[in-house]
Amino acid sequence: MTDTAGGGALPARGMPAADVLDEIRALRAGDRPTHGGRLFAYVYDPGVAGLDELAQAAYAESAHVNGLDPTAFPSLLAMENALVAAAARLLGGGPGTDAPDVVGSVTGGGTESLLLAVKAARDARPDLAEPRIVVPASAHAAFAKAAHYLRVALDTVPVDPVTLRPDVAATAAAIRPETVLVVASAPSYAHGVVDPVAEIAAVAAAAGVRCHVDACFGGWALPWLRRLGAPVPPFDFAVPGVTSISVDLHKYAYAPKGVSVLLHRDAALRAPQYFAYADWPGYTMVNPVIASTRSGGPIAAAYATLRHLGEDGYLRLAAATRDAVAGLADAVRAADGLRLMAEPESTVVCFTADDPTLDLFVLVDELTARGWHTQPQLRYADLPASVHLTVTAAVAPRVAEFGPALADAVAAARAAGPVVLPPELLAMAGSLTPEALTPELIGGLAAGLGLGTGPTPDRMAAVNTLLDAAPARLRERLLAGFVGLLQRPAW
Ligand SMILES: Cc1ncc(COP(=O)(O)O)c(C=O)c1O
Repeated sequence: MTDTAGGGALPARGMPAADVLDEIRALRAGDRPTHGGRLFAYVYDPGVAGLDELAQAAYAESAHVNGLDPTAFPSLLAMENALVAAAARLLGGGPGTDAPDVVGSVTGGGTESLLLAVKAARDARPDLAEPRIVVPASAHAAFAKAAHYLRVALDTVPVDPVTLRPDVAATAAAIRPETVLVVASAPSYAHGVVDPVAEIAAVAAAAGVRCHVDACFGGWALPWLRRLGAPVPPFDFAVPGVTSISVDLHKYAYAPKGVSVLLHRDAALRAPQYFAYADWPGYTMVNPVIASTRSGGPIAAAYATLRHLGEDGYLRLAAATRDAVAGLADAVRAADGLRLMAEPESTVVCFTADDPTLDLFVLVDELTARGWHTQPQLRYADLPASVHLTVTAAVAPRVAEFGPALADAVAAARAAGPVVLPPELLAMAGSLTPEALTPELIGGLAAGLGLGTGPTPDRMAAVNTLLDAAPARLRERLLAGFVGLLQRPAW
C-alpha cells in the first residue's frame, strides 16, 4: 500500500504484478464474505467448486472485446443471443410457445433493464407530453430512478400490509390515459412475494398499456422451483398481456456481476429501446442499451456459467435453496419474538419483531457480530422495519448453524435493550426538512454516528434507528450525504 500513498492509484513507478494483487487481496480482506453462505444480500453464491475459476477464465477471454459494434465482434453477439434465448425459453417464450417472437438485449444489470423497459414504453408514446408509469409500492427503487432519469411520473399503488401485494382494482384505477407502463414484480425484493401478475397484466392489456414483469430477482429461480413442485403462480410470457420481462443473470443464474436480460414479447415492442445517432462526423452510434462501449467480460462469464451449470445444475441449486429457505424460516418461527413478514414463496426470508423489547436493528448487529450478515429494512408506510435474507444455494450447508446463532443473537439483543438515541436527535429526524440539511449538519451527524471517516462501524443500530425515525425524503438526503462523505479522493 505504501507506494500509492502519494498518488492514489497511480504510483510514480509501476509495481510488480504480485505486489499489486497482494494489495487488492489485502483490501478485500475488509469486505463482507462473498462466499460461504453467511451474507444474505448483495451476493449470489451457488457454492459450486470450480465455477469461479471458469467464469474468471471466460471473463478474461472477452474482457477487451467491445459490445459497441456486434459486427466487429461476432463472438459477443453469438453469446448475447444465446443468453437471450435461454432466458426467453425459461420464461415462457420462444418457438412452440404463445410468445414465439420474443427478442431481448443483454444489459449491465437489473436497474439498466428496468430503465430501458421504461424508456421503450415512454418512447412508444411520443404523443404524450407527460407519460406516467404505475408501480406497486413494493416495486424495486430502480423504477423510481427510471422515472426520475426519464422524466416520467410515478404512480405508486400501495401494498396490503398483510399480503404485501398491490390490489388489482387499485392498480386498474391508477391507470390513466397518459400511462405507458404497468409493473408487477416476480417476486418483490423486500419480501419475496410474487404479485398477481395475470390480473395486473389483464388490467393493463384492457387499457392498451404495456405490462413489465420485474423478474430481475427471481426470474432465474422461480421456474426451477416450479419444476420442483412449488406452487409458483403464472408470471411469465405464458400470461397474456405481459409485454416485457427482466431477469438478472448476476443474481440466481450465479454469473459474476454485470449481466441482466431484458426481454420483449416482440421486436416492435423493443424498437423504441434503441438509440441511434448519425448526425455527427464519427461512426453512427446504435445502442440497444445505455452503455455504448461494453466489455465482453461479463457476457462471456455468464455464458460460461450457464453452459457449465446446465438445467440439471440449476435444478439442483434450486432444491438446495428451497431447503435452505425452509430451514431459515423454521429458525425464525422458533425464535422468541420474531415473525415472518410473509410465508416464503421464493428465495427470500423476511422477518420482523412483534416485541418492543427486541430491537431489530440491535439484532442485526448481534448477528453481524456472530458472522451472519443480514439486511435491515426500515419501516415504510404501514409496514414495520424488517430483516431481509436473500437465500442462495451456498446457504444450505450452513442452515443448521443459523438457528442457534439467531436464538443467541435474539437473547443478546434483548439483554442489550433497544437503541436509545438522544431525544433531540430523534425529534430532529422527525422534523427536519431535507432542504434544511446543510453539508455541515450532515458532517456533524455523521461524526456523531461514527460514519464518514474510516471503515463503516460494525454496529449500525443507532444509524438505522435515526434513519427509521426520518421520513423517506430525509432518509434519502441523509444517506446520500453520508455516502458522499465516503466518496472522497484517496490522495
Ligand atoms: C426485483 C429487483 N429488480 C431490480 C433490481 C436491481 O438490480 P441491480 O442491482 O442489478 O441493478 C433488483 C436488485 O436487487 C431486484 O431485486
